[in-house]
Amino acid sequence: MTTPEFPRDQRLDALLDAVLAQARGEDRRTTELLSALIRHLHAFVRETTPTPEEWLAGLDFLVRTGRTCSEHRNEFILLSDMLGLTTAVDDVNFPGGDDATPSSVEGPFHSPAPARANGDWISTGPERGRAEVMVLRGRVTDTRGLPIAGATVDIWQADDAGHYDTQDPAQELGNLRGLFTTDADGAYWLRSVVPSSYPVPTDGPGGELLRAMGRHPMRPAHVHYRVEAPGHRPVTTHVFVAGDEYLGSDAAFAVKQELVVEPVRDTDPEHAAAFGVEPPFADFEFDIRLIRNA
Ligand code: BEZ
Ligand code: FE
Repeated sequence: MTTPEFPRDQRLDALLDAVLAQARGEDRRTTELLSALIRHLHAFVRETTPTPEEWLAGLDFLVRTGRTCSEHRNEFILLSDMLGLTTAVDDVNFPGGDDATPSSVEGPFHSPAPARANGDWISTGPERGRAEVMVLRGRVTDTRGLPIAGATVDIWQADDAGHYDTQDPAQELGNLRGLFTTDADGAYWLRSVVPSSYPVPTDGPGGELLRAMGRHPMRPAHVHYRVEAPGHRPVTTHVFVAGDEYLGSDAAFAVKQELVVEPVRDTDPEHAAAFGVEPPFADFEFDIRLIRNA
């Protein structure tokens, strides 16, 4: 199989065949996934001829990626996002064209949110005194526009310095998170601060990878959503702030035009009073359309 008198391509073909012959998963799908993975990894070795030192450096990178993971940090998700793989998986499963709100990456910072009532503040830390106040509101409907009452709208965002509660010991857990339930008209609303663009974590292997590629780590300002309703396909997505300088170069390749919202900068004291905020405030409207299960 690996005898040197055979040409390199024949030796490598025989080796790949031998590995594939033993890649029998417990079902057809597992076999298909494992076989394709093995074929692509062998093709990578053939194409790039890595030295043993380069190969071990790659394995060490994966070991360090694993060691960087913790209850609140998933460095593998970060790598997948930064290589555009999460968006590719999303695209092959949910290509759009169905009138539903497009999905987008979940990212590594989802964690359980406190249940909150419509109108609640999700910003309970010092960022509330520093950053611009935001009212975020909308309706959850089906793709025909019929309201979905009782849908859950799970929201999470970073503070004005770009940190999630789980990354920042100075924030209380649950800050800038909320689990809302839509009313009879499918409506949800909350008060918070306008999100800022921020860098993905660069102090681990994800940052190493970005530096190796000469890329910046920035994500455009956004709020994350996970919306679920019985009888409907759930969606994980974002709303992005129009005008952000990183919309065209998101480190996570997650921007879709339909998800970009231009806030209304509202200075009207009566509008502000109706939402229980001081003027001026940024008024964001973002509706979610879910697909009804067949
Ligand atoms: C985030 O928005 O939380 C995020 C998404 C992808 C990679 C890193 C962070
Ligand atoms: Fe985020």
